[in-house]
Amino acid sequence: MDHMKNTSSVLVFFVNGKKVVDHQIDPEWTLLFYLRNKLRLCGTKSGCGEGGCGACTVMVSKYDRTNKKIIHLPVNACLAPICSMHGLAVTTVEGIGSTRTKLHPVQERIAKSHGTQCGFCTPGIVMSMYTLLRNSSKPTMKDLEVAFQGNLCRCTGYRPIMEGYKTFTEEWELIQNGNRLNGEQGNGCAMGDKCCKLQNGTTKDPEEVLFNRNEFTPYDSSQEPIFPPELKISDQYDKQYLVIKGKTVTWFRPVNLEQLLQLKKQFPDAKLVVGNTEVGVEVKFKQMVYPVIIQPVLIPEMVAITNSEKGVRIGASATFTDIETYLKNEINRLPEEKTRIFKSIVDMLIWFSGKQIRSVGALGSNIMTGSPISDMLPILMANEVTLELQSRDNGKREVLLDGNFISGYRTTIVKPEEILSAIYIPYTNSDRYCYAYKQAKRREDDIAIVNAAVNVTFEPKTDIISDINVAFGGMSYKTVTSPKARSQLKGLSWNRYTLELAFTHLQQDLPLDPGAPGGMYLYRKSLTLSLFFKAFLAISADLQKYIPHIKIDKRELSGITSFEPKEYKSAQYFTVVPKTQEKSDALQRPIIHKSAYKHATGEAIFCDDIPFFENELYLAFVTSTKSHAKILSVDTTEALAMQGVHYFVSAKDLDPGKNCMGYVERDEKIFYTDIVTSQGQIIGGIVASDEITARKAARKVRIEYEDLYPVIVTIADAIKHNSFFKNPDKVIVKGDVEKAFHETPHVLEGECHISGQEHFYLETQSVVVVPKKEDQEMEIYSATQCPSQLAEAVAQLLGIQQNKIVVKTKRVGGGFGGKETKCFLLALPAAVAAVKLNRPIRCVLERDEDIVMTGGRHPFLIKYKVAFNNDGKILGAHTKFYNNCGYSIDVSSLVLEHAMTHFQNSYNIPVIRLEGYTCKTNLPSNTAFRATGCPQAMFSAENMLQDISDYLNKDPVTLSELNLYREGDTTFYNQKHTNCTLQKCWNECLHSSRYLEKRKEVDTFNRENRYKKRGLSVIPTTYGVGFPLPHLHQAGALVLVYTDGSVLLNHGGVEMGQGVQTKMLQVASRCLEIPIEKIHTVDVSTDKVPNSTATAASVSSDLNGMAVLQACNTIKERLKPYKEANPEGTWEEWVKKAYFDRVSLSSTGYYKDWDDFGYNWDTGEGRMYNYYTYGVACCEVEIDTLTGDHQVHSVDIVMDLGESLNPAIDVGQIEGAFMQGYGLFVLEELIYSPDGTNYSRGPGTYKIPGFGNIPGEFNVSLLKGSSNSRAVYSSKAIGEPPLFLGSSVAFAIRDAIKAARKENGHSPGFKLDSPATPARIRLACQDNITSKFQEAEPGTFTPWNVLV
Ligand SMILES: Cc1cc2nc3c(=O)[nH]c(=O)nc-3n(C[C@H](O)[C@H](O)[C@H](O)COP(=O)(O)OP(=O)(O)OC[C@H]3O[C@@H](n4cnc5c(N)ncnc54)[C@H](O)[C@@H]3O)c2cc1C
Ligand code: FES
Ligand code: FES
Repeated sequence: MDHMKNTSSVLVFFVNGKKVVDHQIDPEWTLLFYLRNKLRLCGTKSGCGEGGCGACTVMVSKYDRTNKKIIHLPVNACLAPICSMHGLAVTTVEGIGSTRTKLHPVQERIAKSHGTQCGFCTPGIVMSMYTLLRNSSKPTMKDLEVAFQGNLCRCTGYRPIMEGYKTFTEEWELIQNGNRLNGEQGNGCAMGDKCCKLQNGTTKDPEEVLFNRNEFTPYDSSQEPIFPPELKISDQYDKQYLVIKGKTVTWFRPVNLEQLLQLKKQFPDAKLVVGNTEVGVEVKFKQMVYPVIIQPVLIPEMVAITNSEKGVRIGASATFTDIETYLKNEINRLPEEKTRIFKSIVDMLIWFSGKQIRSVGALGSNIMTGSPISDMLPILMANEVTLELQSRDNGKREVLLDGNFISGYRTTIVKPEEILSAIYIPYTNSDRYCYAYKQAKRREDDIAIVNAAVNVTFEPKTDIISDINVAFGGMSYKTVTSPKARSQLKGLSWNRYTLELAFTHLQQDLPLDPGAPGGMYLYRKSLTLSLFFKAFLAISADLQKYIPHIKIDKRELSGITSFEPKEYKSAQYFTVVPKTQEKSDALQRPIIHKSAYKHATGEAIFCDDIPFFENELYLAFVTSTKSHAKILSVDTTEALAMQGVHYFVSAKDLDPGKNCMGYVERDEKIFYTDIVTSQGQIIGGIVASDEITARKAARKVRIEYEDLYPVIVTIADAIKHNSFFKNPDKVIVKGDVEKAFHETPHVLEGECHISGQEHFYLETQSVVVVPKKEDQEMEIYSATQCPSQLAEAVAQLLGIQQNKIVVKTKRVGGGFGGKETKCFLLALPAAVAAVKLNRPIRCVLERDEDIVMTGGRHPFLIKYKVAFNNDGKILGAHTKFYNNCGYSIDVSSLVLEHAMTHFQNSYNIPVIRLEGYTCKTNLPSNTAFRATGCPQAMFSAENMLQDISDYLNKDPVTLSELNLYREGDTTFYNQKHTNCTLQKCWNECLHSSRYLEKRKEVDTFNRENRYKKRGLSVIPTTYGVGFPLPHLHQAGALVLVYTDGSVLLNHGGVEMGQGVQTKMLQVASRCLEIPIEKIHTVDVSTDKVPNSTATAASVSSDLNGMAVLQACNTIKERLKPYKEANPEGTWEEWVKKAYFDRVSLSSTGYYKDWDDFGYNWDTGEGRMYNYYTYGVACCEVEIDTLTGDHQVHSVDIVMDLGESLNPAIDVGQIEGAFMQGYGLFVLEELIYSPDGTNYSRGPGTYKIPGFGNIPGEFNVSLLKGSSNSRAVYSSKAIGEPPLFLGSSVAFAIRDAIKAARKENGHSPGFKLDSPATPARIRLACQDNITSKFQEAEPGTFTPWNVLV
């Protein structure tokens, strides 16, 4: 064959300008694996392995020989097969700048704008921005939005990232240059008074802003590294027929069509891989094995996009990015009526995955995958486009992409030896209309719940339908059409009568079983009609331009229009340090996170970035796949026979008495042996030479089970089976609640359910255990919030003294409570394996393992009965709390207790009876999660108020205000609110948000718009700061001063993005009166500060700050004589002199909290919380009543943080917590089957807020003039308190739904559980569409998912 002449089996590509030539490539490797494991470029992170988080983003560049230009693409390294890099240039975060040389402006700006917290997502975000800049040195704000669709961050709330990066944009430059847009006067900005220059404080004094844009290094695109000349000059790699053989997979990259067809004939089962965004996921998560892979991307006919008289021919392997560019050009070039299908494709692509996926994914692949929720298939099917198929023996054939093309679940009529070579998309004409829609849980980068395309052709210049074809995704195992609608509507006029007829036929053609996979059957059915109705309105609006009798009401246009584009306005207000403050004194200044530059350059070392140790092995777990079962047998034969496998670690490696663990109760097993009570429980682990082998072998361990019953999954199941850890777990009573119910005029009863939440820290749980050569010593590197507790647990387990086990934690890529107790799950088995084999063991959970094994926030069911007077003043409440704990108690009792003591949120409820129940279920064991239990409980108080508001017909804002805690009020657990700034926060928030004006504006908007409604909410929060156990309120520090004057600071606070290290440096800087640059911190290490309290409950700065302060004070005292003797001297001189005088230059610090602290549950005496952090948020949203979609217009938050140690970090904590709360109450939904299988195991199915969820306007004010005598330097805790404010989005949505219900003649009272998903929003907006569908009788079907 001719290709034999130019065949290569050597992979050649460039990484950061350096040529990589590798003869020993395994086609199963991804680019991410290669970068991290072979090149040890660990800046590129792994957050999910499925293309959903963007942490692995790199830039891939290639030379386009046709257009003679270099193309740069953002690519998910986790999905990119290493073989696909042949002849390309890869740039990673290490390749663009470093702290050792020079930071790239992209790195500098994200750091300086406070856009990094834990920093795990940062390299990926940097690379998305960098790639955008390499393609366009002056991008627009819209470009920025698009660039970040595929990146997630769990910490920052995104606002500061956008804030920093908008300085690269065209819009920003125009403002800077004072240019006048559109002839506008004033500051040169078309936004006039709304200009972000004014809004964001660039006209303010540099001291008054969180960062100063003038300090940014200008961006000069000419300074970028050049594309490798070798790749540009020569096309030798492009011409090579690549054949790379691995152990199980062979990779072919043919260079012409003939070779491709020949290969497909030879290997009919071969997979064609273009972007690998489908196949990669199948291989990783469905364990599919495809021995032959063919990559067709260098075959001109397969990638070319050309036009003809009839339309456009798209090569099947053309990527979405190329298609989008081409079609946009066509749309601009041609008359509007010719390009209507193109437009619907381009419009759909905005919501199709993220930029990284679109850069590599192909249209042909999307069609051939035949996914039932493909976004392209409905458009192509409704328009019956033509597909060109080819095979070696039978040549070309053309088929219509109609209802028959998809033959089954993810299968097509294309024969094994055939390939899809092209897609022909026709031009439209003036009588043909095409609209397409998609509804997902999250608008950006999410798969569709239902999508639809409508294609209607009218008799020339009339409204008589000559043909209509509709196609829907998400309604069956494949994309479906409605043959009835097509046949029955032909010849009819486009009017409401026809619409109703269409509804009838659609209902008949799109049945959905109540137990259908995907769930939400009522919503999905409603969506089919709602989306069709949108098309009806849109086409009516088009027709009314020239058909006089077609009229649609102006108010109905709101059913067609999208939400307004966001302006990204924001403001941050804080107390500026007095001018008299010494420049060297870092306290209370908005200085950047200590590791920010290292985050941005990829130099920050996370647990899995630690260099490999000699002889290191990898541990992969074998976990239970059953929720409740007896283990009959565990067969490891096949796994242990694999090359590279060393051992199967399990319960047999432990004394039976030691095989248990648990934070409060020892009710969990390290390895499960006989009975499993949840999926994800560890049965054992394969130890192998490397990760890939360990994981493959772990999958080969065969386990036989016998199912056991009952399988208790939901809170309702637990109540039914009386399955509680304690019944009740806690009861709190104050006053006589029955009397209150009897004596007050109004009593209401209600209940609400709040679903759980996955931590989704970007860095999954990880540990490296290193046994030392002597005396049973061991070093453990762990991403833990509890180094001391981990050392204690390992010591106990192994029977080794704690002084021989050192746990080190440099930083954690987000914890949020999830790395308190759950880090033990992997560290203990890893320690057992390390001792057994006497070798270092590394263990890092995959995202799906992490989700299934480690649990999350507790779901709660809360039932309440509330008494109130005519004004709406609450006089008593009886509330029952049920939390779904999962299989073990973990910290669930504490979570419940915390929930119960916060249930009243900010409201003074004088008489109460509270009962709490910890439900034992067959789910993963739930644990601490930022604000442990409080948000769920507070949600119930707000629900009570909503009910009262509906009942009394009063604004909930008035009712909240009436019930707020005031100075001197006492809680039901007898703690007085002193220094209570709640009312002040409330007033400032109402004022700064313009609540009253907004209320009027919202009412006007709602009157003028039929299908879009706006809503407002004002939500307070009162958060009790402190652990419930007094012994946890202690901390230690160790301060070491060296003879050159440099200071090393050690304390027990783990850095996980919350900035504790930075704050501790600031405290030391103030106390020692030296600049922060002289002070350094390393990792938290149990051999420096013993017995440290877990970094949790928001108090790590409070506790460690005081310990640091004490240690620094001691040093300061010792140096005092030298300073007094030589007042003009320098710090270094005093230190030196003290050294020569043999004065100790190291000091420990120790702090224990106030003695009044500690609540006695039996007597109700003592202080429950150290103090309270107060805050208030006002939120405005808009909803689409036809789809349940929403957009947050504005958020204004006022919080009292006392005297903030670092306003930039604290504002970041508020924004991040707010967004996490917004996720909890609106976006994030864990989906469980009735048998306890979690269907939401990664970013593809579990949607945390993305960049697109940033509120249009996001203002945060730290209350001025506030202080706090109970914490370091008068500051207040901040990590958890703001989280509940995220619920303001849900309550604003509720307000908007009320408006929709009013419009449709329904009562204002309705139930809106958490999260307020599009499905819940849509169904609550009851109308003539939802009323067509009836709920199926419970018990008559098996639901696909259940509310746990
Ligand atoms: C994070 C993420 C987000 C996503 N979001 C969306 C979304 O919003 N909407 C959506 O619809 N999809 C989405 N997808 C799915 C996927 O990206 C698309 O289906 C994409 O079009 C696949 O393209 P690919 O080239 O990467 O596929 P590949 O994985 O390379 O190939 C897919 C399949 O097509 C076959 N194939 C490819 N070309 C041919 C050919 N010429 N002839 C015969 N068979 C062929 C392959 O053999 C393989 O079976 C998403 C995927 C990920 C990972
Ligand atoms: S690790 Fe690649 S996208 Fe998440
Ligand atoms: S800073 Fe983005 S995930 Fe932590």
